[in-house]
Parts: sequence; C-alpha cells; structure tokens
Amino acid sequence: MTMTSDIPTKTGTWRPMRPDDLPAVAVIADRVHAAYPEDPEIFAERLRLWPSGCWVYESNGELIAYVLSHPAQAFAPPPLNSLLGALPEPPTTYYIHDLALLPETRGQGAGSAIVRILLDGARRSGCPDVSLVAVNDSAGFWGRHGFQTVSIPALDAKLRSYDDDARFMVRPLV
Ligand SMILES: CC(C)(COP(=O)(O)OP(=O)(O)OC[C@H]1O[C@@H](n2cnc3c(N)ncnc32)[C@H](O)[C@@H]1OP(=O)(O)O)[C@@H](O)C(=O)NCCC(=O)NCCS
Repeated sequence: MTMTSDIPTKTGTWRPMRPDDLPAVAVIADRVHAAYPEDPEIFAERLRLWPSGCWVYESNGELIAYVLSHPAQAFAPPPLNSLLGALPEPPTTYYIHDLALLPETRGQGAGSAIVRILLDGARRSGCPDVSLVAVNDSAGFWGRHGFQTVSIPALDAKLRSYDDDARFMVRPLV
C-alpha cells in the first residue's frame, strides 16, 4: 500500500490532505480540541513540511476527521501551537502531532485504520519509533496500538502546555 492511496473504512474514506482542506480542518480542530487551541498556520506548516503524513477523513462529502504527523527529533515534542521551521535531518522519531475525529464518527474503527497507515509510513521513513503527546484521555486508545507512556521529567513543562494529564508516549517500530 502506498502513502498516497485513499483508505476506505466502514463509514468513510481517509485521503491525503490538500491545502484547500485546511479551513475544514480548523473547524474540526476547534470542535474537538477547544481546550488545546492551535493557529491555522500550525496545520498549514505541517502539511507543507510532510504532506504524506497529513490525511483527512471524508464521509458523505464532509470532512469529519484529520491527522497530522511527520518525522521529528526524538524526545522533543514541540510545545502546543508552535511552528517547527523545518524537519530534522536525519529524523530520530516519527511524531503524530494530532488525530481528531468529530464525536459522531468515533468508535467505528476510523482512528485505528489511520494509525496503521501512519505506522507503515513511519517504518518507510526509516524512523526507529513513533511518538506523541496523548491528551483528552486518549492514552488507552494509543496503548491498544502499542504505545507506552514514557516519563521524562525534562518534558514536564512542555507537556503542561497541553494539559495536566498529557502523557508522552512512544511505540517502537521493530
Ligand atoms: C481517540 C480517537 C482518535 C480514537 O479513534 P476512534 O476511531 O474513535 O477509535 P477506534 O474506533 O479505532 O477504536 C479502537 C479501540 O480503541 C478504543 N478507544 C477509542 N477511544 C479510546 C479512548 N479515548 N480511550 C481508550 N480506548 C479508546 C475503542 O473502544 C476501540 O476498542 P475495541 O477495538 O475494543 O472496540 C478518537 O476517539 C478521537 O478523535 N477522540 C478525540 C480527539 C483525541 O482524543 N485525539 C487523540 C489526541 S492525542
């Protein structure tokens, strides 16, 4: 499977994100992540830097979910709402910046479907693992996909820029 194929699931289709999707992505982000606001420039930058890691989920002609991800530097998750400037070369982890489904489409496998695609893409990019900051009580979901919480005191301040319960999680790609 290539990173640019559409991925049909039970309730819709994941397809690569395009720049003209960004306004709809911002609307979903405002609804899903009201407590973790990020400026539209953040989404636009991730799409520009690593388009193959950015997808939207379409159902009946409407966008109802998105994901942003990219190669990155290990153990250095960016503070919330911050621009990257550039991706590290070489990368030392593959970072899932955000996966957000509108409430009506949750629990039907769409999230898991795109996580499997992201893990494949991460392997192809040569990264040794995948990392993320789990918010919103999502650590259980990520745990089902092989992610484990890694406690690093030096990251505490950054994690608190997300929320008090934010967890740094890593999944090896072996
Ligand atoms: C978390 C999220 C991405 C999961 O996507 P989803 O499509 O709803 O998940 P799936 O339907 O693929 O669920 C797979 C399994 O994980 C479980 N699961 C889903 N969300 C979970 C959560 N927050 N905590 C624990 N388990 C969860 C499901 O019950 C399901 O279990 P099953 O296979 O035994 O039925 C989605 O619910 C979402 O966007 N939530 C709001 C935003 C968010 O929290 N994003 C993650 C930020 S890091």
